[in-house]
Amino acid sequence: MSQPAFISVSEPLLDGNEKKYLAQCIDTGWISSEGPFVKRFEREFSAQVGRKHGVAVCNGTVAIDAAIEALGIGPGDEVIMPTFTIISCIGQIVRCGAIPVLVDSDPTTWNMDVTQIEARITSRTKAIMMVHIFGLPVDVGPVLDIARRHGLRLIEDAAQMHGQSHNGRPCGSFGDISTFSFYSNKLITTGEGGMIVTNDDALAETCASLRNLCFQPGRRFVHERLGWNLRMTNLQAAMGVAQLERIDEFASRKRAMGARYSELLSGTEGLNLPLSRTSYAENIYWVYGVVLDDSVEFDAAEAMRRLAGMNVGCRPFFHPMHQQPVLERLGLFDGQTYPVAERLSQRGFYIPSSITITSEQMVHVAGAIRKILA
Ligand SMILES: Cc1ncc(COP(=O)(O)O)c(C=O)c1O
Repeated sequence: MSQPAFISVSEPLLDGNEKKYLAQCIDTGWISSEGPFVKRFEREFSAQVGRKHGVAVCNGTVAIDAAIEALGIGPGDEVIMPTFTIISCIGQIVRCGAIPVLVDSDPTTWNMDVTQIEARITSRTKAIMMVHIFGLPVDVGPVLDIARRHGLRLIEDAAQMHGQSHNGRPCGSFGDISTFSFYSNKLITTGEGGMIVTNDDALAETCASLRNLCFQPGRRFVHERLGWNLRMTNLQAAMGVAQLERIDEFASRKRAMGARYSELLSGTEGLNLPLSRTSYAENIYWVYGVVLDDSVEFDAAEAMRRLAGMNVGCRPFFHPMHQQPVLERLGLFDGQTYPVAERLSQRGFYIPSSITITSEQMVHVAGAIRKILA
């Protein structure tokens, strides 16, 4: 097999109106967060996911931080969340003195196992955080039902789910408050960036205030509450507006990528492929994840090392929250085990999944995977 140039795990596609809109920012001097693209991006993005309000921020992590603060989650409150996720989901919960309460993953979709949520509810539970992972949404119905019956707030992390829906309703439209990331590996990107969306007027107002240091109209440098500077710049928003124009095209390109990989990799001994669909959604393959069977004598780290040797860039799956050294040292999850998430983190990784990936590159990637597993 001839060796192509290194195939990176993710690359943005920026050949629409990005340059034109960025030039408008530069020509007009609107480069800070005070600029027309910010409001436009908020309006157009929130409409795309069917929400009344959008609050643009500088990344997806701080979108979650502000959401937690805006919901009034504080010391002693419990938040139920998946262990198999990114550290961004848990940071503000821990910092504000609330308690993250974990559930394991569903072995087929890799999302939080919704059947484990109810048993974790106590009198201190304040919210559920649902995080859609890799390409398939969480099974939202039971989560909405549990939240409603127990009077819990729902935070939806849709960072990876642009363009995806659940039973035809957009991801990002389910939480009391929902968040997105526009990091450069996301379906639509602003380089760095994030958005909080909600239908709740008061929550939107609080998030907008927290984003902007809680400056008060009329008494600018007098503060009743501590906020952050989480503002998105007009430059980032200009990129976002251009990217959003192509969201449907990008989503169908990702779906075509996923279908092609599944074709090329089907029947590979020792490899478990992502589900193409569930009863409520078609996989959007934000990334194409694979999981090594127990019969394979090496783990994901070794597989990625061998694939890198064949110019195939890969990334590991998440490392579960209950095994994070920084959280273990706080004694948050002593003695807890979540076997599905632990296995996913040891045996799962994702392969080059750019919107820009070519058919030849996918053939090379699939060939390399077959080779290491032969
Ligand atoms: C599920 C999830 N939540 C939150 C984030 C954080 O987003 P950001 O990198 O924009 O801070 C990410 C980033 O990849 C993510 O995958």
